[in-house]
Amino acid sequence: MIRIGVLVSGSGSNLQSIMDACERGGIDGQVAVVISNVPDAYALERARDRSIPTVVLSHNDYPDRSAFDRELAITLKEYRVDLVALAGFMRVLSDEFLGEFPGRIMNIHPALLPSFPGLGVRRKAIEHGVRFSGCTVHFVDAGVDTGPIIIQAVVPVYPDDTEEELRDRILALEHKIYPKAIQLFAQGRLIVTGRKVYVRGFDKDAAQCLVNPPLDI
Ligand code: GRF
Repeated sequence: MIRIGVLVSGSGSNLQSIMDACERGGIDGQVAVVISNVPDAYALERARDRSIPTVVLSHNDYPDRSAFDRELAITLKEYRVDLVALAGFMRVLSDEFLGEFPGRIMNIHPALLPSFPGLGVRRKAIEHGVRFSGCTVHFVDAGVDTGPIIIQAVVPVYPDDTEEELRDRILALEHKIYPKAIQLFAQGRLIVTGRKVYVRGFDKDAAQCLVNPPLDI
């Protein structure tokens, strides 16, 4: 059973999917602590509803990034976490912090990386006119949304999509792939070699394919 520390800043729907998966046995682990840098984040309420310990560390209370990150690392260690899961956590983490949890920090991003890193990515995907977007769970490295990719899910994008439509379409899959990535980690099935993440124990399906618009229209 792994102990997971979840870092949040907002609504916490991904946190919810992780807590739900732990509860129904989809993740061999438990959420040991939820830490928010935003005092009134709704994610905190979701955690309290499940009687999961919550901690608020407001970055405004610290003189600089490294002081904040130090406190964050200390708190996560107090709760003896094996994995740090960023779930809508709107802060860039310092190299010092990353060094405290090598290979043990994950993030979810609402686009198919390496396309559309950073912020405002659903709008950017629609404006660019891509036919597919999706979501990515990756290990965190020193860059912004650049770390080794663990799992991705794909959704179609339509020229007349609103940002909300695309957000909801992607979010539904985020809630599936994040718990899955964490479970693969918990099962010790992720092997990182440079940029590549090998997943132990599944067969390739080279016939998998999506076309948008479909070929038969
Ligand atoms: C999600 O879209 C996630 O991909 C991004 O931030 C959002 C968090 O949503 N990193 P929630 O707080 O989990 O509902």
